[in-house]
Amino acid sequence: MVAATTVDLTTLPKAFIDKIDYYEDLFWVTPETLKKVVTHFVDELNKGNSVKGGNIPMIPSWVMEYPDGSETGEYLAIDLGGTNLRVVKVKLLGDHKFSTEQNKYHIPAELRTTRNKDELFDFIAKCLDDFIQDQNPSGVPEGTVYPLGFTFSYPCLQSSIDAGVLKTWTKGFDIPGVEGHNVVPMLMEKVNARKVPVKVVALINDTSGTLVASRYTDATTEMGVIFGTGVNGAYFDRVQNIPKLQGKLYSDIKPTDPMLINCEYGSFDNEHLVLPRTKFDERIDAESPRPGEQAFEKMTAGYYLGELLRMILCELYEEGLVFKDYKPDSEQIKLLHKPYHLDTSFLAMIEGDDDLIDLPEASALFSSQLFIDATLEERKLARMLCQFIGTRAARLSICGISAVCKKMNHSKCHIAADGSVFAMYPHFPERAAQGLADVFDFPALKEGEKEYPIHIVQAQDGSGVGAAIIAALSDARKAKGLS
Ligand code: GLC
Repeated sequence: MVAATTVDLTTLPKAFIDKIDYYEDLFWVTPETLKKVVTHFVDELNKGNSVKGGNIPMIPSWVMEYPDGSETGEYLAIDLGGTNLRVVKVKLLGDHKFSTEQNKYHIPAELRTTRNKDELFDFIAKCLDDFIQDQNPSGVPEGTVYPLGFTFSYPCLQSSIDAGVLKTWTKGFDIPGVEGHNVVPMLMEKVNARKVPVKVVALINDTSGTLVASRYTDATTEMGVIFGTGVNGAYFDRVQNIPKLQGKLYSDIKPTDPMLINCEYGSFDNEHLVLPRTKFDERIDAESPRPGEQAFEKMTAGYYLGELLRMILCELYEEGLVFKDYKPDSEQIKLLHKPYHLDTSFLAMIEGDDDLIDLPEASALFSSQLFIDATLEERKLARMLCQFIGTRAARLSICGISAVCKKMNHSKCHIAADGSVFAMYPHFPERAAQGLADVFDFPALKEGEKEYPIHIVQAQDGSGVGAAIIAALSDARKAKGLS
């Protein structure tokens, strides 16, 4: 098991120790299981590229060049995330260098599930307008139209680089009237109504942006992955290895041309064949807006980790083991029963509590989030649960990386990772690295060795810089007269 600084359990009552053992077994993913999952994952990636298709969409993104760091130009990029909309102005300076200026706009929570799609797109148009006005206090020069890279990190089927039909909402978004439609005209309608001087030149997934941005500065990067609210990865394949593209290509495209694939592998194992699902995973799925979808994502992504912990704490309460002073109809227990009341930062902060004797952070969190005065035993138990949930997420989430590396025969490369879980969840990078070592049987690192052959690194800003580079690559392609 991955070494993590753990609390002293010897003072805990036997009932707690038994529970800890039970949940540890439930959430521990053995190296054998990881290998089995990866074998099936490789088959599913190939199926996704086949004419018949499969569960994993494997979306060709029409990014058909590797960036080489020489790209230049000035672009705007927007990134619609779970909690913020980011607007970024990117100057690509060539020579692997760039500069950015950005602003973040908080997305009102109710917008995720608004019944009126216009509200979402008008919100984006307004943020863009505000940003451009802030950047140009004395007005935008006449005739300016800013080329815009739109990072829209949901599965969009693309027939060209500047269009994308939303297949299904993920990560808790659920706005009617968008699925099945091209999102670019929806945004442009609102942008035009506000007379914002922009034109979408590329629609981009966050994983594609991450891959391209990191490759701009590090040519050994073979994948861009997100460990955040959602989980997904992108890589470069070759046109000739993607049977479903045959017959759909312009004549100037060569079989050996690269094609960036946004895997959308959050949907891996929707048939529930190999992932070690627990009763909690089954409930999360059943109670989600899209049951039966995103099986892999629901076990690994930040959007769901808080919910896993909350469900286990509810189970422990119902068994009479924890929070005994609080009655079922108390405000505290009502909050505990509120779906999605705890988010991943709750787990991350509990695991980040360095004072292993008293766990004061955990105490503060239980009182601020649930108004519960958690005992030291309860805090220790909660900390162990976070450790099991966080470790499982890290170990399982590298199965997508492993499968792509096996499929493409990448035995030594960098994987560029971004997302709140990778950046903020304590021990996540080490746990993920250990998962990869278990899958590939990497020998333990020798003294002086810093990384395993397949190594996950913190990515460059994919949704800003990556979007700009993709827009620049697309402009350069058009300038060459290529489709
Ligand atoms: C979800 C989205 C995907 C995105 C990922 C990470 O899986 O469907 O498009 O890349 O989250 O944000």
